[in-house]
Amino acid sequence: MSDRASRPVALVTGGSRGIGRAIAVELARTHQVVATYRSRRDCAESLERETGATIFRCDISSRGDRAALLDFTRERLGRLDLLVNNAGMAPLERRDILEAGEESFDALIGANLKGPYFLTQLAARWMLERGGGRIVFITSVSAYAASVSRGEYCVSKAGLSMAAALYAARLAPHGVQVFEVRPGIIRTDMIAKVAQAYEERIAAGLLPQGRMGEPEDVARVVRAIADGQLDYCAGQVLDVDGGFHLRTL
Ligand SMILES: NC(=O)c1ccc[n+]([C@@H]2O[C@H](COP(=O)([O-])OP(=O)(O)OC[C@H]3O[C@@H](n4cnc5c(N)ncnc54)[C@H](OP(=O)(O)O)[C@@H]3O)[C@@H](O)[C@H]2O)c1
Repeated sequence: MSDRASRPVALVTGGSRGIGRAIAVELARTHQVVATYRSRRDCAESLERETGATIFRCDISSRGDRAALLDFTRERLGRLDLLVNNAGMAPLERRDILEAGEESFDALIGANLKGPYFLTQLAARWMLERGGGRIVFITSVSAYAASVSRGEYCVSKAGLSMAAALYAARLAPHGVQVFEVRPGIIRTDMIAKVAQAYEERIAAGLLPQGRMGEPEDVARVVRAIADGQLDYCAGQVLDVDGGFHLRTL
């Protein structure tokens, strides 16, 4: 596509690093992309240089920041075709569920659940005005796999999975397709501290496909959604996990 200004608009939260960056890079081939960051402006600026994406600072857990992000997108680009709720965080420190405190719980619920829940509310209202759109929630296998050393992460992702189902049901009659994309173990900064331990478990057979995921594995699934290939699906859960979710006997 040559005329960039006539391209559809995609908003990717947490586009500065990891999975969100790979999604922003992929979508920038066909869309005008707004990519958000929270603290790593340097990473966001390199994305801007590399792809021409527009970057915007937004702490997704802040109501004011979410409203400012949507206002900015409306004023700058005038339309919204795809929202990718990707931004998220792991606990700063893994702690047993019998010891972990409320501070980490509140931070994760704010960033991983409340933020995308209410950003989607704003985006969905706008999409309804426009007559359609697509919304992706990046959740996690932690939505159903219990990790007792990061219970607050699991709870936030289980809640986000229900948020995806709720918005899918509410918006399907109005031409807005909602999807849950559920990554497994993906090689990013988020898992850097435990990557070696995961590699050992993968070598021992944890994943049927026998390899850790890459951010691009997730980006390709979002590409299929962005292209409308899954438009007769409502609320579909897409496991991007090398087969982790399969139960075998
Ligand atoms: N990596 C995995 O194995 C894995 C597996 C399943 C699901 N996921 C999910 O995939 C998503 C992306 O994870 P990742 O592995 O790519 O993580 P990452 O490399 O740590 O990147 C996280 C991204 O989210 C942004 N972010 C973090 N907290 C934010 C907040 N409060 N407000 C706005 N932006 C915020 C960061 O911005 P800055 O760069 O400015 O810090 C960064 O762009 C997350 O929702 C995560 O839970 C990851």
